[in-house]
Amino acid sequence: MCGIVGYIGQEQAAPILLEGLSRLEYRGYDSAGVAVFDQAAGTLAVRKAKGRLQVLSDQLHGGADLNSTAGVGHTRWATHGAPSDVNSHPQVSRSGRIAVVHNGIIENYAALKTFLLDQGVPFTSETDTEVVAQLIEYFYEGDILSAVGRALRRIQGAYALGILCADFPDQIIAARKDSPLILGHGEGCSFLASDVTAILRHTRRVTYMEDGDLAVLTREGITCCNSLMQPVRRKVVQVDWEVDAAEKGGYEHFMFKEIMEQPEALRRCLSPRISKGEIIFEDMALSKDFLRRMSRIYIVACGSSYHVGMVGKYHLERLTRRPVEVALGSEFRYMDPIVDQHTLVIVISQSGETLDTMAALRQARQLGGHILSIVNVVGSSIARESDQVLYTWAGPEIAVATTKAYTTQLALLSLLALWLARELGTVSQEEYRAALAAFQELPGKLEQVLARRDDIQYFASKYFNHNSIFFIGRNLDYALGLEGSLKLKEISYIHSEAYASGELKHGTISLIEEGTLVVALGAYSRLFPKVMSNVLEVKSRGAGVLALTTQTHQEEMARIADAVMTIPEIHELLLPCLGVVPLQLFAYYVALMRGCDIDKPRNLAKSVTVE
Ligand code: G6P
Repeated sequence: MCGIVGYIGQEQAAPILLEGLSRLEYRGYDSAGVAVFDQAAGTLAVRKAKGRLQVLSDQLHGGADLNSTAGVGHTRWATHGAPSDVNSHPQVSRSGRIAVVHNGIIENYAALKTFLLDQGVPFTSETDTEVVAQLIEYFYEGDILSAVGRALRRIQGAYALGILCADFPDQIIAARKDSPLILGHGEGCSFLASDVTAILRHTRRVTYMEDGDLAVLTREGITCCNSLMQPVRRKVVQVDWEVDAAEKGGYEHFMFKEIMEQPEALRRCLSPRISKGEIIFEDMALSKDFLRRMSRIYIVACGSSYHVGMVGKYHLERLTRRPVEVALGSEFRYMDPIVDQHTLVIVISQSGETLDTMAALRQARQLGGHILSIVNVVGSSIARESDQVLYTWAGPEIAVATTKAYTTQLALLSLLALWLARELGTVSQEEYRAALAAFQELPGKLEQVLARRDDIQYFASKYFNHNSIFFIGRNLDYALGLEGSLKLKEISYIHSEAYASGELKHGTISLIEEGTLVVALGAYSRLFPKVMSNVLEVKSRGAGVLALTTQTHQEEMARIADAVMTIPEIHELLLPCLGVVPLQLFAYYVALMRGCDIDKPRNLAKSVTVE
């Protein structure tokens, strides 16, 4: 989940690398480093620093201290070895002539390290990455590409690598397996990066490296070869994201900006897919024949994307009358899932690179499942390995805590549920029409919720000092609570749990005491009376209750709850898309009041490309 950037061209490299890294900090931010060719000395200059990128940038005076037109940079999320100057990347070989930046995990690094130690190779860091640098040097006999190829054949695990060799000042080598890495094609310059946002200011022409690929970047262009070292041609694609989409644009935090962007993101995601009262999924590969025989649906995802799946299960089962299982990517891999050629496997991932989700996808595929993915990042690994992709078109999401990606995933999955029901003939014409109309109302209603954000800020100011907060709700509200609770703990560090409110009496109610805060979710009208009973239960044990409900039930809820957040009425299919927004805002304002680092919460990273 570390971030990699590389540049070779005519301009000073260090400022470009630092600027690119600043856009990748969401991937990890416990230390950073750069390596450039010192052309005059014929050596590599390596600079690293523990802490945020700013520490390194200050040390290098924004890059002005390093005079070179080629180099690589890295921002780290520690796996092997604690964050420290010495464990930061780039890692160098014993002679200092080979420098490596790495994202991923070298699984057999201990065995390789023992082998190299036995050969007398000294190590200075605790990282698995140093093994790569040392191993390349071990094989190096004057041809760096061949040394890299030989080293990679001995390496097991996942990697995206950027490699410099002091003897080849006019090239950078890149390699990838199971970790994302893209190549950028500029005028008289070439780039590599973990993600397009790092190089978008310089070029929109990119190549997604494939697993096993090696690439040589020069000022004149890029050549690729596969794992057998045979030359291969890879497609160049044009990225259409706006450059300023990855900028804060006057907002204090990316998270707030992305919360506010949700109406627009939803319009982009939904408008092209609804026309003349029909749902249009272009190039839909799910044939009528497959749908007729479809016996079950699996949803596989991690983190907030998994929470989207939890909502999706309720919608899909109700609308399609097919059994739906929701599995965490990390669990699916080891649970011997029941998937065959009649199973639809819906894979949900913002980044399209989450390793556990990716591994689950591959397993489901092997078992014969039909893979439909819901992804934000165009051309990402999950998108490329799916039978069918539905893109969310939410634009780049930078804050670690996801907001607009979650709502667009949810809206798209809900639209898919409705489409499937229509195809299967399991939804009435009236409900189909009513639900479809709701999709068109969604962005406008979401704007109404955002317009009342001051109310939420006020509630946050009342409750930000709590040490533990419970979220309760039933059915759709329960699934919503999972996301609300995750948002809160991710960025405010308040202990928080979400429970299906009917389960309270089976254990959790013992934790409720005078002053405990319970966020009671009662947006789902069908179950409103049930949630009210649970609110009474916790109130009578001394809890303070912050409730969420629709305008229709506001008054009734206000009679018991201490504070009420409201959302407009909307078809139940879209209730969670709307209901999550006050919870996002609540988490945001609470974290703000607690002085937390909202966009880069401790220990987390946005793109999790390790198991
Ligand atoms: C990380 C992010 C979450 C995200 C999860 C899954 O934990 O911080 O926001 O939900 O990964 O990521 P994906 O890109 O697969 O949706």
